[in-house]
Amino acid sequence: MWNLQEIEERMKKIMLVFGTRPEAIKMAPLVKEFQKYSEKFQTIICVTGQHREMLDQVLHIFEIVPDYDLDIMKQGQDLYDVTTRVLLGMRDVLKETQPNVVLVHGDTTTSTTAALAAFYQHISVGHVEAGLRTHNIYSPWPEEMNRQLTGRIATYHFAPTPLSKQNLLAESVNEKRIVVTGNTVIDALYMVVDKIKKNEVLDVELSSTLKQSGYDIKRLSSGKKMVLITGHRRENFGYGFISMCKAIKALTEKYPNVDFVYPMHLNPNVRQPIHEVFGNDLSNLGNMFFIEPLEYLSFVYLMEKSTIVLTDSGGIQEEAPGLGKPVLVMRDTTERPEALEAGTVKLVGTDYGKIIAETSKLIENEVYYEKMSKAVNPYGDGLACSRIVHFLNQES
Ligand code: UD1
Ligand code: UDP
Repeated sequence: MWNLQEIEERMKKIMLVFGTRPEAIKMAPLVKEFQKYSEKFQTIICVTGQHREMLDQVLHIFEIVPDYDLDIMKQGQDLYDVTTRVLLGMRDVLKETQPNVVLVHGDTTTSTTAALAAFYQHISVGHVEAGLRTHNIYSPWPEEMNRQLTGRIATYHFAPTPLSKQNLLAESVNEKRIVVTGNTVIDALYMVVDKIKKNEVLDVELSSTLKQSGYDIKRLSSGKKMVLITGHRRENFGYGFISMCKAIKALTEKYPNVDFVYPMHLNPNVRQPIHEVFGNDLSNLGNMFFIEPLEYLSFVYLMEKSTIVLTDSGGIQEEAPGLGKPVLVMRDTTERPEALEAGTVKLVGTDYGKIIAETSKLIENEVYYEKMSKAVNPYGDGLACSRIVHFLNQES
């Protein structure tokens, strides 16, 4: 018989590190998957707290309690603040825990810095959502470079699609270390969609949560259309955001019978141009609804009820096509061309005229709308997490 210490020594220690809202959403189902195999893996969760409230919303929804919380967020932090605080915080956590593998996600400064911290202690890194590329290091900025750097450090590459695998092969990554898994965001999406569908009470609860947040979903019961908007990209700050906000304002005036709902990111750089264009008081703007960031369940519920999604978000570009929602991407480049090819996503940049023209076309032209709103899921089948766990179980 093995004693407890021997059992623990035979288990693989996996540390999952994340810090922002999208990483948390995409790592949450992976945490749950590892925790199913507690005889094989010791799962350690370390959050950096690069985001605070927006991270905590996700931890709460998925009932995840971190083992370590670096709690690094400062109002108005810059890239140097985040990088140095994560690096120093991870040094101590890694020294104490000595995991066999550190898993990081995507392209944030949390993920690249945590990967670097692990590398400094000779700890293997697994990169979840590996291999996406625009090949333009300033778009998205700094995320494209973050993802490339993490790819250089990583030993294991969990690529969401065959195209992301191809990108890694083109950079001479060893094929044996790449697994095409699908994107874990689809695992998360299916988890919450399933939860909402199975629970009629939850439907009522979410509708009431949304009402308290400032948008009454009952407004849509007469068949009214709704455009869901989000934006937060650093490379769009300043002129890009002003242009986006002006286009949205023009659309609200052009279509008084369509609702526009914008759950705002907490970054002050995002809020400032909104106030500049819409004024200081964002309440009572008729068909324009600015609301606070929604927790994931309410956001997915709202997205499901929307007609069109207008966003610069990475994750939403992956989720919305799965729900059959046309997405206009307010960016000049995308590292996610799969949905573009499938025809459910279109790049509109931050150009005032283009945002208005493309949104108008989707509102007015039913045939065009139908063509773009077919549900496709190039990003996965909801089994990405089990593929990752299976692979790491086999690796000695
Ligand atoms: C970060 C990521 C970006 C990701 C985005 C998801 C980097 C460089 N950027 O950008 O890749 O797409 O998260 O949203 O890693 N804030 C709060 N509370 C929160 C979250 C943010 O107040 O819960 C405010 C703070 O003032 C903070 C600021 O937003 O300083 C910026 O946060 P930060 O994580 O540095 O940048 P994001 O733009 O959120
Ligand atoms: N999201 C959310 N509440 C909101 C807005 C977005 O839960 O109010 C979710 C959304 O479903 C997606 C993720 O947050 O999974 C996207 O986060 P964000 O746009 O901040 O980052 P990105 O994906 O661009 O890195």
